[in-house]
Amino acid sequence: MTKTWLITGTSSGFGKELATVVAQQADTQLVATARQLSDLAYLDAFDAHRIAKVALDVTQPDQVTAAVAEAKQRFGKIDVLVNNAGLGYFSTIEESEMAQVRHLFDVNVFGLATVTQAVLPIMRAQRAGIIVNLSSALALTTLATMGFYSATKYAVEGYSDTLRQEVADLGIQVMTVEPSGARTDWAGRSSQKVAPQLADYATFSAGITDVPSSVTDAPGDPHKIAQVIYTQANQATVPHHLPLGDFAYDGGLANLRGLISEITSREALSRSTDD
Ligand SMILES: NC(=O)c1ccc[n+]([C@@H]2O[C@H](COP(=O)([O-])OP(=O)(O)OC[C@H]3O[C@@H](n4cnc5c(N)ncnc54)[C@H](OP(=O)(O)O)[C@@H]3O)[C@@H](O)[C@H]2O)c1
Repeated sequence: MTKTWLITGTSSGFGKELATVVAQQADTQLVATARQLSDLAYLDAFDAHRIAKVALDVTQPDQVTAAVAEAKQRFGKIDVLVNNAGLGYFSTIEESEMAQVRHLFDVNVFGLATVTQAVLPIMRAQRAGIIVNLSSALALTTLATMGFYSATKYAVEGYSDTLRQEVADLGIQVMTVEPSGARTDWAGRSSQKVAPQLADYATFSAGITDVPSSVTDAPGDPHKIAQVIYTQANQATVPHHLPLGDFAYDGGLANLRGLISEITSREALSRSTDD
C-alpha cells in the first residue's frame, strides 16, 4: 500500500533527512512542509508526482488548515504525520525571557497540537494513522539551562500519552521520539541563548556560550535517526516511545529509576492522604 507522509519542518535537520528517506521509497507519497518553500529544492531530485511541497509555519492556524487540505486534495489521505518542527532554548529558568518562552511553546507544543488537530479528522475517517511526535531525551531527564525546552517536550509527552489512549480504538497510533543531541541546526540557528548575567548563575555561562561547538560534536547522526524513525513508523504496531542515543537511554533510565525509588520510598505517606 502506498503511504502518504506529512512532515513539518523539512528544511533542515531530522525533517530534511526523514523527507529524503521517505522520498527515496517507491511506495510513498510525501507532503513536505516548510516555512520557506525555497528550502525544499533538494526534493527536486525525486519523483515530483509523489511529492507535494507545502508552505507551513506551524504557529499560523490558517496555514495549518490550508496545508492539511492541500495534502488531502493532492493524495486523498494522510497515513503518517510527523510533528518535527521545533526550536531550542538555552537559559537559566530565572533569566529566561517570557516572550521567547511563549514563542518556544507556540512552536514546540501549540504548533504540534494545531497540526495534529487538523489531521485527526482525516485519520479518524480512515480508521488508521500514525502520529510521530518529535520529543527529546530532555523529556526523559533534565539538564540545567534547558528547563523551558524540557518543559515543552515534557508537555509533548503528556499530550501524546493521553492522545494515544483516546485514539487507540480508532486505529490511530501515537509514537514519541526522544533523540539525544544530534548534529542538526537545532542548537545553532534554531535556539535562542541567554547568557547568565547574575553572578549566582555564572557557573552555567560556559555551558550556554559553548553550545554551538558542543553541538558540532554531538554524537547523534541525523541520517541514522531518520532511518530509525522511518523503519519504526512502518511497523504494524509502532513503539510508544523511541529514545535514541546513549544519553536518552542511560540518562532517561537513570532519571526514571530515581523517580521510582523516590516514589516507593514514601509509599505509606503517599497513601495516607486518601480516606
Ligand atoms: N538536534 C537535536 O539535538 C535534537 C534532540 C532532540 C530533539 N530534537 C527535536 O527535533 C526536532 C527537529 O529539530 P532538528 O534537530 O532537526 O533542528 P533544525 O535542523 O534546526 O530543524 C528545525 C526545523 O523546525 C522548523 N521550524 C522552526 N520553527 C518553525 C515554525 N514556526 N513552523 C514550521 N517549522 C518551523 C525549522 O524551519 P526553518 O528552517 O524555517 O527555521 C526547521 O525545519 C525539533 O522538534 C527538536 O526539538 C532535536
